[in-house]
Amino acid sequence: MTYINTNRNNWNQRTKIHFRSKFYDVEGFLNGASSLNNIELSELGNVKDKTLLHLQCHFGLDTLSWAREGAIVTGVDFSDEAIRKAHYLKTETRLDARFLCADIYDYGREIHSKFDIVFTSYGAICWLPDLQEWANIIADCLETNGTFYMVEFHPFNDLFAGYSYFGKTEPDFEEDGTYTENSENFKSSIYTWPHSLSDVITSLINAGIEIRQFNEFPYSPYNCFDQMEEKEPGKFYLKHNNQDLPLLFSIKGTKSHNRTRAGI
Ligand SMILES: C[S@@+](CC[C@H](N)C(=O)[O-])C[C@H]1O[C@@H](n2cnc3c(N)ncnc32)[C@H](O)[C@@H]1O
Repeated sequence: MTYINTNRNNWNQRTKIHFRSKFYDVEGFLNGASSLNNIELSELGNVKDKTLLHLQCHFGLDTLSWAREGAIVTGVDFSDEAIRKAHYLKTETRLDARFLCADIYDYGREIHSKFDIVFTSYGAICWLPDLQEWANIIADCLETNGTFYMVEFHPFNDLFAGYSYFGKTEPDFEEDGTYTENSENFKSSIYTWPHSLSDVITSLINAGIEIRQFNEFPYSPYNCFDQMEEKEPGKFYLKHNNQDLPLLFSIKGTKSHNRTRAGI
């Protein structure tokens, strides 16, 4: 079995659990709440009437939340269960959205439309073996002058959770659970790849994305370690040797010229 089949199978199982969780609060979303956090809402800014591609959209809560902000949205994810549920939420909310079921590397190899914004967030890149190809796809999907925006768990967060800070060609393989509160008995195989900050930044630069903004945050919107302290609502801090750990980073960049597949 390839890593894609193993990981897709894992995400199909997780999706069913996540959809029923308090963590994702589908009911709140259906009642009008946004699943987006202040960080991405404030840093990405006005998306009204802009075309937005959401890579690894899971079951579409964030994608549809961007639609509520006025964006013309497309979400891509390789989990057929997630895309099925995204279509259900689209129907329930009567929001306009396009959802495609594809591995992002396959999606990147196809001829596709260009977007004003490419967005990805929280727990996306650790499932991807090749960050340079990921960055190339982002650049290929953007219009000239289009915006790339990501907010992601800091590799320090992952280091603290027991993974390597530095990138590795061989994946970590584990029998793991999932992060929602309703998943006590769940365990399934999964492959992950660590990526350092320099790997992320260098891959984007190599792909022709001009980085305009880079931020690191000493808090997370998710209470994902036992010893976290919620200093403000929705901001969970973690100390190591009495110092705050960096838990998130965000990058905003622009594609300033057309890239050819052979190089920039
Ligand atoms: C943690 S979730 C996305 C995070 C999102 N912020 C959320 O919580 O809704 C990661 C997503 O990546 C998707 N995924 C993992 N590997 C992928 C791949 N190679 N191609 C497309 N989607 C992938 C999974 O199916 C899952 O929906």
